Amino acid sequence: MKIGSLSLSSNIFLAPLAGITDKAFREICQSYSAGYCETEMVSAKALTFGDKKSFELMEISDNNHPCGIQIFGNEPDIMAQGAKFAEKYNADVIDINMGCPAPKVANNGCGSALMKNPKLCGEIVRAVKGAVDIPVTVKIRKGFDDENINAVEVAKICAENGADAIIVHGRTRQQYYSGQCDLDIIKQVKNSVSVPVIGNGDVKDIKSAEKMFSYTNCDGIMVARAALGAPWIFKILNEYFQNGIIIQEPSKEDKLNIMIKHIEQICKYKGEHMGILQSRKHMSWYLKGFKGAAAFRNDAGRVTSLEEMHRLVEKVLEKQ
Ligand SMILES: Cc1cc2nc3c(=O)[nH]c(=O)nc-3n(C[C@H](O)[C@H](O)[C@H](O)COP(=O)(O)O)c2cc1C
Repeated sequence: MKIGSLSLSSNIFLAPLAGITDKAFREICQSYSAGYCETEMVSAKALTFGDKKSFELMEISDNNHPCGIQIFGNEPDIMAQGAKFAEKYNADVIDINMGCPAPKVANNGCGSALMKNPKLCGEIVRAVKGAVDIPVTVKIRKGFDDENINAVEVAKICAENGADAIIVHGRTRQQYYSGQCDLDIIKQVKNSVSVPVIGNGDVKDIKSAEKMFSYTNCDGIMVARAALGAPWIFKILNEYFQNGIIIQEPSKEDKLNIMIKHIEQICKYKGEHMGILQSRKHMSWYLKGFKGAAAFRNDAGRVTSLEEMHRLVEKVLEKQ
């Protein structure tokens, strides 16, 4: 599939996840054939202030393309400036966050709160589109709450103002990440715009991905939580949808080897101390489903070095 001028080898994407989809995680998901990935959301305003941490979030390694940079904010000119910085950081796409439910974002009129003002959504897309030469996408929700379900209206305005694709998470802001993802709203968006529509929400295996594709007729899907501790999900889905082959999950030993590789890469980028602290949650996700997982996941929360991680892996393997 294509997003604007960008051709992608697969229409199964890794979704942006704050604090999670860093360079190391994106690389490992792409090594399992995720067709596209994104940074976590970056504040456009913080970029205009020269905030170092925000610039770090935009770093993309050479073997991590195609990769979009997601920006958030609610002022068209600031968003345009933020997009220019992102383009300089080698983004393949600028994605505009119109879905974040977090109070610190939505209470400032950004993220999901933008959906309360469709006209402003259009103005932001137009400003960003005019500022960069790369494709621009928006990631929206079903609506703000049950009384304001307007994904179709927002998608149309964004497309009219130049959005090259629309990503739809089928939940309202009120739902955050719980309750049912509404496939009907994704289908309605697909039927009302001519640009590609990417369906998002609760895709966790072949069955749920098949349902997302067949029910909504979407052009691509984005996987978020199901990739945690399971970056191979992209290979499983791609083998099925591209080649009709059902492959099994990796063995337990292979899973642990993938985890080690992932965590070593985090430590390479962030230094061992910071890297290990940030890896604890990943360890815990990888260890799901292992014999004795509850105790081992607890242990993972206390690991302080790569050496300790290797010792934990040996202990886990002995118990299987
Ligand atoms: C911890 C966490 C962080 C997230 N961070 C972002 C983000 O930075 N930008 C964004 O557009 N969506 C973010 N999301 C939403 C996901 O991209 C996705 O839309 C949502 O989790 C639904 O997909 P899933 O059912 O596959 O998990 C986040 C979700 C979670 C759980």
